[in-house]
Amino acid sequence: MSTPPIRLAVFASGEGTNLENIIRYFSSAPTIEVALVVSNRPEAKALERARCHGIPCKVVNRTVLAEDEATVIALLHDIDYIILAGFLLRIPTYLIDAFPQRIINIHPSLLPKYGGKGMYGHHVHEAVCAAGEKESGITIHFVTEGIDEGEPIAQFSTPLIPGSETPDTIADKIHRLEQAHFPEVIARIATIHREA
Ligand code: GAR
Repeated sequence: MSTPPIRLAVFASGEGTNLENIIRYFSSAPTIEVALVVSNRPEAKALERARCHGIPCKVVNRTVLAEDEATVIALLHDIDYIILAGFLLRIPTYLIDAFPQRIINIHPSLLPKYGGKGMYGHHVHEAVCAAGEKESGITIHFVTEGIDEGEPIAQFSTPLIPGSETPDTIADKIHRLEQAHFPEVIARIATIHREA
């Protein structure tokens, strides 16, 4: 009998370019599948992308996520890993407890720099640009209660040219790193889990 695939739920609030990349990457991998996409915003482009690929979607708003533990846990009953791909709500404690070391986030900076409350998406690139940093990058990490504080799994950096960059040029460099590395890191972690 063949082993069932590892099932991912991808949580996304916005554009969903990481989601799209993850879906495409695993569409040809028999051992890992994107089984569910969750968004807190019904109008998120991420949901549109998921529907185009025929992946089940669910909108879970802020109140349900924070307060309706039974509903959320039931929704995720057959999920092995939760992937946060631009998901902007805080993950409640009950979910962290239900998925220990099984919730993975991508953050568009070299944590611990430019992390924490209010540091997401373009806000990060604006801060990095304003500080004249010589490099930026991405951090893929396990999710714990502290915002952007969980154990890092992998970091990838890119050089910046202080004075020549804008938040948009930095965003573009970060986007390339995310596209190049996020799915492969997810695959690595999920495979370790399968072999353990
Ligand atoms: C990505 O750059 C991701 O790193 C960032 O949001 C963007 C989502 O883009 N996440 C955070 O800032 C989390 N703190 P996408 O919706 O096109 O994948």
